[in-house]
Amino acid sequence: MNSNIDVIKCKDINEISRRAAFLVAETIHRNPRCILGLATGSSPVGMYQTLVKIYEGGTLDFSKVRSFNLDEYYPIQPEDPQSYRYFMNTNLFDHINIDPANTHVPLGNAEDPEKFCQAYDLMIEAAGGIDLQVLGIGNNGHIAFNEPDDHFPAGTHVVDLQESTIKANSRFFASEADVPRKAITMGIGSIMKARRIILLASGTAKAEAVKACVEGPITPACPASALQLHPDVTLFVDEAAASLLSK
Ligand code: GLP
Repeated sequence: MNSNIDVIKCKDINEISRRAAFLVAETIHRNPRCILGLATGSSPVGMYQTLVKIYEGGTLDFSKVRSFNLDEYYPIQPEDPQSYRYFMNTNLFDHINIDPANTHVPLGNAEDPEKFCQAYDLMIEAAGGIDLQVLGIGNNGHIAFNEPDDHFPAGTHVVDLQESTIKANSRFFASEADVPRKAITMGIGSIMKARRIILLASGTAKAEAVKACVEGPITPACPASALQLHPDVTLFVDEAAASLLSK
């Protein structure tokens, strides 16, 4: 393995969640005004639950933290239970003392999504950039909603979701037909600007993507492989997700 990526093998998703949550908490302790880049999907759910527990224990203060989420379906209303805004509110924001005005999720009902994307990048920049970016990974190696492509997209943009992603994410919807066909997503360039990145992956379905991310060629065919070029990336993986790594 010759990439920069630090791989931490954990027993299971509980250990992944705990270790990732401790790292987020430490980031907030060091800098109470930090900017967090947040992810949705099933992988970070346990991490959010652990953060809520730490907050309830009285040792974590989110009052000055600001957050920017990676992505959102398009079109979707923010109050739709399948939206990533709803996911973030119900899994984290509603249970901690973060100021709702300090939380940002791409607007699934933006009138002019292209214009919104430019504004989102400017907002992140104006906030001082992301200190810690949390990521999951798709089975096809996508991060946020950056699908395998012939180039690494730079900034926030509108994307057509691939069939495999629509299928994988249909488990959260009544049927596959209900999954929005587009999304607004931070680009690979936006993600790479974060000062520190952690990626959470568990289960055998992620094993190939994890291998391609850490040991494969750096190619937009596996968007996560761009992380090999970032100086501070830590992967928290369980045995199954790590099973194809060479060491
Ligand atoms: C979605 C999200 C990604 C996430 C991926 C994996 O497509 N846009 O940000 O990383 O799913 O999700 P899960 O953690 O549920 O496997």
